[in-house]
Amino acid sequence: MQTQSLIADRTNRMSVNAIREILKVVSQPGMTSLAGGIPAPESFPMDIIQKLSRQVIDTYGSMAFQYGPTEGFAPLRQHLADRLKKKKGIQVSPENVFISSGSQGALDAVGKVLISKGDKIGVESPTYLGAIQAFDPYEPDYVTLATDEKGLIPESLETVLSRTPLKFIYLVPTFQNPTGRTLPMERRERIAAILTRYDVLLIEDDPYSDLRYDGEPLKPLKALAPDHVLYIGTLSKVFAPGLRVGFYVPPALLEDWLVIVKQGVDLHTSTFNQALAAKYLSGNHLEQHLPHIIALYKPKKDAMLEALANHFPTEFTWSRPKGGMFVWVEGPPGYDMEALYQRAIKKNVAFVPGKYFFADSQSGMETMRLNFSMADEAAIHAAIHILSRLL
Ligand SMILES: Cc1ncc(COP(=O)(O)O)c(C=O)c1O
Repeated sequence: MQTQSLIADRTNRMSVNAIREILKVVSQPGMTSLAGGIPAPESFPMDIIQKLSRQVIDTYGSMAFQYGPTEGFAPLRQHLADRLKKKKGIQVSPENVFISSGSQGALDAVGKVLISKGDKIGVESPTYLGAIQAFDPYEPDYVTLATDEKGLIPESLETVLSRTPLKFIYLVPTFQNPTGRTLPMERRERIAAILTRYDVLLIEDDPYSDLRYDGEPLKPLKALAPDHVLYIGTLSKVFAPGLRVGFYVPPALLEDWLVIVKQGVDLHTSTFNQALAAKYLSGNHLEQHLPHIIALYKPKKDAMLEALANHFPTEFTWSRPKGGMFVWVEGPPGYDMEALYQRAIKKNVAFVPGKYFFADSQSGMETMRLNFSMADEAAIHAAIHILSRLL
């Protein structure tokens, strides 16, 4: 058979996720990887998972292995609604919380439901590559919104919207992947006002806000402009990513459409995994376990920032996140981080060249993303020292 005639035009537009390819290379023994974006396996509450797995079977029996509603497992929707109200200030009923297979599942559904060819989508630059990968098959045009070290600049959004209608804006406002940046409260309020004034939708992707190591939590945009924000969350970073349990709270008019497209993808997210997640939330296990995850990551983050301050040349700058998993480094204009990456892996240190996080292929050559959730403090110090010598 001829691949050319077999593969759909849409599929031909898809490309492999460059970062996943890098991760294959760097998962060799002996490598210190600052490249991944994945939780440390020590952060998974294995003893709780064992106990709750048994409880799921005792409580739900064979029902835990039966087909379930596309919208999600009712007790999980209930517990998520309670937590969103209590911890995030999002006023929501369980019927308005929907379960997805990871937040990636929600991003895929958003692309399917909303994007027609040529639609304009506002994105930060750099942005989360997985969102671009989910949206690309529907052939949108990306409009880059200006950012600084505090994230999206509200004036830039307003200027764009006053000239060009956007289908939606995609934003990771808290401990962004890849930069670690967080949008301050005052900007959140101004952006919420702009969304309402221009009657435009924003997709708020929020996987990291629970991983806060310093400072006070900030309200999500969803709490400020509920009718104009589709909020996406996940249990991947605070429970276990392999369970693939994510969730979203859309504006009411999108609810049915998002459910319909999920029916065509996977009917529903794993019943057992949703029941396990419901037990994790209901027994206060999440609130008890979260401080352990924070205690694991905060010293790693501090070690990375200290090592950068001690070793990196002064013409390099970097973000100082108060949470999440990433530090973003910017070198002098023209510096080639891809070339540095090739030399670094020969010295058994890996990171992700930042250019992969830009929607256009020309930008970000002088940038890199460093992850601090996987390696231990000593390895982080040693790896940053090696990178600084190569720089
Ligand atoms: C910003 C962002 N959104 C979504 C995801 C996908 O997470 P999951 O599908 O595991 O919930 C990630 C994972 O790293 C991420 O960084």
